[in-house]
Amino acid sequence: YTEEELYRPNFHFTPKKAWMNDPNGMFYYNGYYHLYFQHYPDSTVWGPMHWGHAISTDMVTWTEKPIAIYPDEKGYIFSGSAVVDLQNTSGFGSLKNPPIVAMFTYHDPTKEKTKEPGIQSQGIAYSLDEGLTWKKYEKNPVVEFPSIKDFRDPKMTWDNIHKQWLMVLAAGDKTIFYSSKNLKDWTMLSDFGKNIGAHGGVWECPDFFPMMVEGSDEYKWVLLLSINPGGPNGGSATQYFVGDFDGKIFKLDESFSKDINGQKGLWIDYGRDNYAGVTWSNISETDGRKLFMGWMSNWDYAQKVPTQKWRSSMTVARELKLIKENNHYRLSSVPVRELQNYVANTIKKEALKITDKKTVLIDKSSIDLTRLDIQFTLRNLKKDIYTFSLCNSSDNNISFGINKKDKYFFIDRKKSGDLSFSDAFAKQISKAPFTEDFDKIDVRVIVDKTSIEVFYDNGKTVMTEIFFPEKPMETFSVTKEKFDFTIENLTINQLNFN
Ligand code: FRU
Repeated sequence: YTEEELYRPNFHFTPKKAWMNDPNGMFYYNGYYHLYFQHYPDSTVWGPMHWGHAISTDMVTWTEKPIAIYPDEKGYIFSGSAVVDLQNTSGFGSLKNPPIVAMFTYHDPTKEKTKEPGIQSQGIAYSLDEGLTWKKYEKNPVVEFPSIKDFRDPKMTWDNIHKQWLMVLAAGDKTIFYSSKNLKDWTMLSDFGKNIGAHGGVWECPDFFPMMVEGSDEYKWVLLLSINPGGPNGGSATQYFVGDFDGKIFKLDESFSKDINGQKGLWIDYGRDNYAGVTWSNISETDGRKLFMGWMSNWDYAQKVPTQKWRSSMTVARELKLIKENNHYRLSSVPVRELQNYVANTIKKEALKITDKKTVLIDKSSIDLTRLDIQFTLRNLKKDIYTFSLCNSSDNNISFGINKKDKYFFIDRKKSGDLSFSDAFAKQISKAPFTEDFDKIDVRVIVDKTSIEVFYDNGKTVMTEIFFPEKPMETFSVTKEKFDFTIENLTINQLNFN
């Protein structure tokens, strides 16, 4: 590896150069998944925001395209969303060539300095060439609320139940819902969130959509809501809410409301590095999946991580599912199935009884430990601590596992390599509380050169974290303290992206 590419992931999206944060404007159209992103092309730290652009046929490998939307005299281009206006309700295109319509937040740096009202407002733009180039609407902004300072990140969606365009945005300590017939004129419907859920920081980047409950005909509305700071392990993180929506008002489900009261929020990911994630629009009904991607970093240290040419990557694309068990709703996420198409070879071990304190499961003579999809089932778990580690010969390790004594999942990156850039990076191990106890559990781990994404119990608990080792990881091992246990159906998939 050349020095400056030492930390470049093998398969997570990164910009070729310069700064990136939130995913924006994700839509699917004509065989392509589009991903825009908060981008400052002139530096590796945050600055005047643009929308960068990348496309993919499968959400796994990406091709970066020219910058899509530039800041202008009205301000920087903050986060937002895009929809395919198939019926040409906006009139920006035609039925034959439907316009793609994006809504973003204008952030006015001049008003910010002078502390004038109306720092943030919403503008729209449209594309008639499948998202490559964009024309801003001449009557921008389309949505304003001058007295609210934090007023941003509009997420539009076609509400096929109430036959309306919907938009939700973050307004400080709440979300506000709007509806529209033509994507230009928006009517305020209601707000949600004051004194509900986690409020350790400002609310950002909401997403709002109906979902079928797995294995039933019931549907519920799900609200994703990113908050910074105030995440379960510090800094930025994304919580979710489950409830009902009558076309105007979102009401939290009663059992869900009890669940979050006990837990200070439920989180789509308990790791430190999954923020501002939202879902793709215009996924066909025959596909029907809810597809999600987040920014794999944290505002606590994002601008200091030790990469040189570029900063930040995205998580793997994930499929969200709404699950109901014992009257509790949970949002699960797992990597999209398209990742399977990249499996180059597989090592399988059927039933491993783990009796030693430390067992090496795999080393670099058999596999490259910087591009893996590992799956296994743990059985006979007792009151013990089960720690899985990826290590290298420089004594760096990234560890994750299950503490059955104190009932939490964890990631520990305290010895994962370069930590010098920020005290906040590895201050403590990250934890995710069990929702219920168990003695058997499925685990899936996606490993890249500088990130780990752990999915427990089919994605009902997820932890995602980044790390910066001095050299790539070389072994994968497990330790336990007292009790023997079993690893079943260990499948180690080597991924290949050439
Ligand atoms: C979230 C966020 C958004 C904002 C954008 C600015 O990470 O703060 O609320 O639109 O980043 O880059």
